Amino acid sequence: MSQDAKESTVTAAPADAGTGDALENLLHENRKFAPSEEFAANAVVGAGDYAEAAQDRPAFWAKQARELLTWSKDFDQALDWSNPPFAKWFVGGEINAAYNALDRHVENGLGDRVAIHFEGEPGDTRSYSYAELTEEVKKAANAFESLGVAKGDRVAVYLPMIPEAVITLLACARIGAVHSVVFGGFSADALRSRIDDAEAKLVVTADGTFRRGKPSALKPAVDEALAKEGHTVENVVVVKRNGESVNWVEGRDKWWDETVGTASTEHTAVGHDSEHPLFILYTSGTTGKPKGILHTTGGYLTQGAYTHKAVFDLHPETDVFWCTADVGWVTGHSYVAYAPLINGATQVMYEGTPDSPHQGRWWEIVEKYKVSILYTAPTAIRTFMKWGKDIPAKYDLSSIRVLGSVGEPINPEAWMWYREVIGGNGGKKDTPAPIVDTWWQTETGAQMIAPLPGVTATKPGSAQVPLPGIAVDVVDELGESVPDGHGGYLVVREPWPSMLRGIWGDPERFKDTYWSRFEAMYFAGDGAKKDEDGDIWLLGRVDDVMNVSGHRLSTTEIESALVSHPSVAEAAVVGAADETTGQAVVAFVILRGDAANNGDETVQELRNHVGKEIGPIAKPKHVLVVPELPKTRSGKIMRRLLKDVAEGREVGDATTLSDPTIMQQIAESLRK
Ligand code: WT7
Repeated sequence: MSQDAKESTVTAAPADAGTGDALENLLHENRKFAPSEEFAANAVVGAGDYAEAAQDRPAFWAKQARELLTWSKDFDQALDWSNPPFAKWFVGGEINAAYNALDRHVENGLGDRVAIHFEGEPGDTRSYSYAELTEEVKKAANAFESLGVAKGDRVAVYLPMIPEAVITLLACARIGAVHSVVFGGFSADALRSRIDDAEAKLVVTADGTFRRGKPSALKPAVDEALAKEGHTVENVVVVKRNGESVNWVEGRDKWWDETVGTASTEHTAVGHDSEHPLFILYTSGTTGKPKGILHTTGGYLTQGAYTHKAVFDLHPETDVFWCTADVGWVTGHSYVAYAPLINGATQVMYEGTPDSPHQGRWWEIVEKYKVSILYTAPTAIRTFMKWGKDIPAKYDLSSIRVLGSVGEPINPEAWMWYREVIGGNGGKKDTPAPIVDTWWQTETGAQMIAPLPGVTATKPGSAQVPLPGIAVDVVDELGESVPDGHGGYLVVREPWPSMLRGIWGDPERFKDTYWSRFEAMYFAGDGAKKDEDGDIWLLGRVDDVMNVSGHRLSTTEIESALVSHPSVAEAAVVGAADETTGQAVVAFVILRGDAANNGDETVQELRNHVGKEIGPIAKPKHVLVVPELPKTRSGKIMRRLLKDVAEGREVGDATTLSDPTIMQQIAESLRK
């Protein structure tokens, strides 16, 4: 295994929570980068916020809510925590998310400021001013209402990274409809199960998008998802994006241009209750069935706006913000669709992949729009490292002044490369841009742990400190706070404004999943360590959840997909350390007695089967056909041992196996 791969094992592997002697030695980091005097002097948020929030947490958040947002009706109480774990924030307040993201900026004379610079994959571009985006959202709101969508109804969104995605989300928020975005890379089956779970009335999609210069379809997946009767969908609105021909269901399907395009630009936004549901977003858990994470309005917007301002040191008059996440993920919700617009910022939105039509595409975009704040994932940074620093060196990256990272632990090598090559404009800058590594989750709604770039001396590889007003801790098995220098489980001790309000339709699962492991604490599912400075290092999931390219996948869900194939008798899936994607899906399968093993062909078929069941992102990188799986005497699969095999390590302690020779048999069958 290469040096790099070893590094990513260190940072991406699940924590040996509580013990972690090996970790003690591995996570020493002496490099620290204090903010420059100039940066600190001009920072929008200083150290004072920590002290203020510590004084009175709800009061701190109430102040942010009133400063950053415009309420149609002021709230009476910052936090109601009388019925934990069900929190209510900004009780009695009324607010409209779309009005806050759009209309009020226009009313405040900022109508001409660019809200979105859109860069299409084929090179087409569109810019929307705040006034124009407001108009589009009003039209979409009218169009959705005319299709019978009312406050509280659910709308499924299956769109590529185009402005219509943001317009759709804000139009839903405007009328109080609850959006449920399904990532365009998910399959028809995955889309259908999410439509059913949320009982969506409307689907908004596109004919397709472009991938690496070629049209790529989306509408057929919607047609397939809705082919079987028994769903709740009344209409499908279709954006014309790639111009490919599509099947059409008369009465059900409506072109965006003919509905939204022709709708009135007059629409008054009314305030919705602070706790009115804003959206559902499905994420993988430890069991097969994805969870519909529910977020509500006032608290979500408050923490999104505050973190976007504080963590990225946002100066909305001059900054150009670019978050590279797809709206299909929570990062694209909070830091593309909502917070940047709430804060009146100018942002870039890009439809395609980083290598299309060439490996310098991102840097070309940074140069073109003078991007000053870039927010992306470690997997992308590691990919750029592989491509080499000569590619970004061809572009002027001097506009960049803050760099963000999210989605998985960023290994110190990638952190340093990001700092020097991107933040330092390839060494041409005296003081490279600060990096903020931001830890959070779909469930937390907004950033929770991150440095403040004008305050914190940053440290390669560590997300470091809880944000002001956020009570994160690392605890041992018994829920006791661990001393500095020790590892354990990451928890949140106090409610926070953008916390999930539940799992759609399943309050029991909400309590079980997050609030039962430790008394009166939110359990995030991550292992973590406090170093000798008290800085927090994230060590990966401690449950059966994998993190592939910053996306969450459940081992159980992929195992279920595999065993649904007629040739598979049994399957075990592990996340193995991967140099580029952090973790990669590796599947071990036992074929049925009557199923032929056609080598590569079988492997390919099983990979495609998972792609069809869940989506291409879930396709195993490797499928290994084995004669047996390692199990304990009680029948539990020992994934730890399979992970050793998948990562090319010597297999660990196998004494609790019901048949101790199994690992040898597996190794032998893999050698063949
Ligand atoms: C899981 C949440 C938050 C948006 C993207 C992922 C991991 C996320 C970091 C980070 C180490 C991180 C955690 C977390 N994670 N950010 N900066 N350092 N790990 O959202 O799909 O809900 O996944 O991603 O394991 O639990 P998500």
